[in-house]
Amino acid sequence: MVKVALKGETVRHIRKKILYPRDLIARRVSQIAKDISRDYGDREVLIVCVLKGAFVFLADLTRCLDLSFSVDFIRLASYGSGTETSGRITVTTDIETPVEGKDILVVEDIVDSGLTLAFLRERLLRYNPRSIKICTLIDKKSRREVAIDVDYAGFVMDDGFIVGYGLDYDEKFRCLPDIYVIEE
Ligand code: IMP
Ligand code: MG
Repeated sequence: MVKVALKGETVRHIRKKILYPRDLIARRVSQIAKDISRDYGDREVLIVCVLKGAFVFLADLTRCLDLSFSVDFIRLASYGSGTETSGRITVTTDIETPVEGKDILVVEDIVDSGLTLAFLRERLLRYNPRSIKICTLIDKKSRREVAIDVDYAGFVMDDGFIVGYGLDYDEKFRCLPDIYVIEE
């Protein structure tokens, strides 16, 4: 149990329990990296990491890849301070690399409603990439509001709000090495 102050409110008690321990995460990340390396082979890949949540996953994933790639970052905002999507997505920091003709691999933390990735996919497609694939650490498949094909997923889960390994609850808990589910 930890105490956190959310957006300057009074301190609240958050109860959480481990869902995916670090050794299990490491095994899945290394397996996904193998699949990605095998599938792209000799092709040069532009990895587009969605900030902020995917930064820890990206760091581990890229160090397991046997592939020629470059990395760029985009920051999309869709969440307020709660645990439900607002449905409004904005680009707050954009990638700098030209996308045209490239094989793009989007690296995301969680696909939930799918609204964020549907938006990003549409936006990238406007610049005529050669291909777009999606890699997410967590796929909350049953919560989709729009169809999104996930090409690589670390874990599929149904319900619950999770933190740690880059994932936050109101900017808290990103640096926990394991993934926890919040029990509120
Ligand atoms: P979507 O647009 O509903 O698919 O929202 C996806 C984004 O919501 C993810 O990239 C996360 O940043 C955030 N998100 C969804 N579920 C969780 C969660 O359980 N913990 C932390 N962030 C989450
Ligand atoms: Mg995200």
